[in-house]
Amino acid sequence: MLLGVNIDHIAVLREARKINDPNPLDAVPICKLAGADQITIHLREDRRHIHDNDAKVIINQSALPVNLECSINEDIIDIACELKPARITLVPENREEVTTEGGLDIKSNYEKIQKVIKKLHKHEIEVSLFIDPNKEVIELSSKLNVEWIEIHTGTFANIYAMLNSGLANTHHTIKDLELPKTELKKRLQTSIKEIKKATKYAIKNDLKVAAGHGLNYQNVTLISDIEGISELNIGQSIIARSVFTGLHTAINDMQDLIKKA
Ligand code: PXP
Repeated sequence: MLLGVNIDHIAVLREARKINDPNPLDAVPICKLAGADQITIHLREDRRHIHDNDAKVIINQSALPVNLECSINEDIIDIACELKPARITLVPENREEVTTEGGLDIKSNYEKIQKVIKKLHKHEIEVSLFIDPNKEVIELSSKLNVEWIEIHTGTFANIYAMLNSGLANTHHTIKDLELPKTELKKRLQTSIKEIKKATKYAIKNDLKVAAGHGLNYQNVTLISDIEGISELNIGQSIIARSVFTGLHTAINDMQDLIKKA
């Protein structure tokens, strides 16, 4: 199983002071040395963390393949085509959100997404769609001829966190999850089953399967155990741990857990 390290939060720290320290580019060789397989960054429309120049230098200088997350906004797609990362992961984006809040709504945006995918393929960039574990959305993804899907694990991660610490580990649906433990346990099992089923179905439809969002040192093995998932993209928990242990150790710790699965 491959590990993509999302380094956006290094830029978040830099933006706290609006200076050039820490520089997310400096994380790239450390990720490589620690055994990560991919660098993931998100060029948001509001540029709240990664800036155009970060994306440019990281894509040009990284010895690891770069997975650039972006919305289907035309200006962002034009920039992405010019930067030519190894992969683009299309994600939904909303200005008010703290982080990505769910999978792409492919059904409502089918034509626009199709146009974007054709353009990216013309630029020889492989495409991944960040989606919820849902059969209909997988069928639409397959029809769109993408190489990858990335299953949104945020709901799973929230249920896991509510069950084990009483606090959601991402930002949304907190109220919905204030449930008795027996109900949370049931929901956790349902959520894992949905991810397993979606993975199987995606593979049957010739899609490669990644997963990500809200994965951490406590919950990751429940996902890395799932047969068929070939890549995890993890940001927040690795960067958070790296504040105390250094990035190399934080990545090694995560890799150890993934390899144990
Ligand atoms: N995958 C996608 C598509 C994302 O948008 C994000 C968050 O930027 C992640 C993975 C990583 O999520 P986290 O930071 O919660 O590990």
